[in-house]
Amino acid sequence: MDPQRIPAISACVFDAYGTLFDFNTAAALARDELGDDWQRLSELWRQKQLQYTWLRGLGGHHADFWQVTGDALDFALATLKLDRPGLRDRLMNLYLALGAYPEVAETLRALKGRGMKLAILSNGSPAMLEAVVRNAGLTELLDGVFSVEEVGVYKPHPSVYALAEKRLGIERSRICFLSSNGWDAYAAKAFGFRVLWCNRFGQAPERIPATPDAEIATLSELPGRLA
Ligand code: LAC
Repeated sequence: MDPQRIPAISACVFDAYGTLFDFNTAAALARDELGDDWQRLSELWRQKQLQYTWLRGLGGHHADFWQVTGDALDFALATLKLDRPGLRDRLMNLYLALGAYPEVAETLRALKGRGMKLAILSNGSPAMLEAVVRNAGLTELLDGVFSVEEVGVYKPHPSVYALAEKRLGIERSRICFLSSNGWDAYAAKAFGFRVLWCNRFGQAPERIPATPDAEIATLSELPGRLA
């Protein structure tokens, strides 16, 4: 058996933001108003968005990802002193139409052709996920789009990963989970999925429990990693 290939996989489950969809495209498309601040805004927006998911989880104050994303954007805009009229609404609307990474559609088609079940498991609210999937033309390729709203808590709570196993009806050891977020990949492995960390951003290994089965640089490598 090729040690590089993961055997007995029936389904691939993907994180959404940062893995299939490039969250930087929202701020990049508003560069005409953000100027040189667009990357700082995008980075701060994302960092704060994730922090708020964790803080809300620990505090027991769940709110959906649309609210959390808007709250994080308000924080980022205030920090960078960007208060142009209409800018917040423009960025939030762009978040519903984020671009997919270039290899995504082709990779999903190749996996589908091999009979693999394909799904998204994301913090995103159902409406956000529906919009971004439709905009990227991926609807027909997916067997499921699962939102944390079904369990009312964010990743990395184990009940989120359990949702994919339950909804697909496929045992966790036969599911390959893909995320570009290191912490998400590590937590999915701790849950019991097989995991490929799509380390797009060349991040250092996390120091939390469990280690993904392997790292890939883009999703193009995924079909070749499954036996
Ligand atoms: C998601 C975030 C973690 O899509 O990227 O769940």
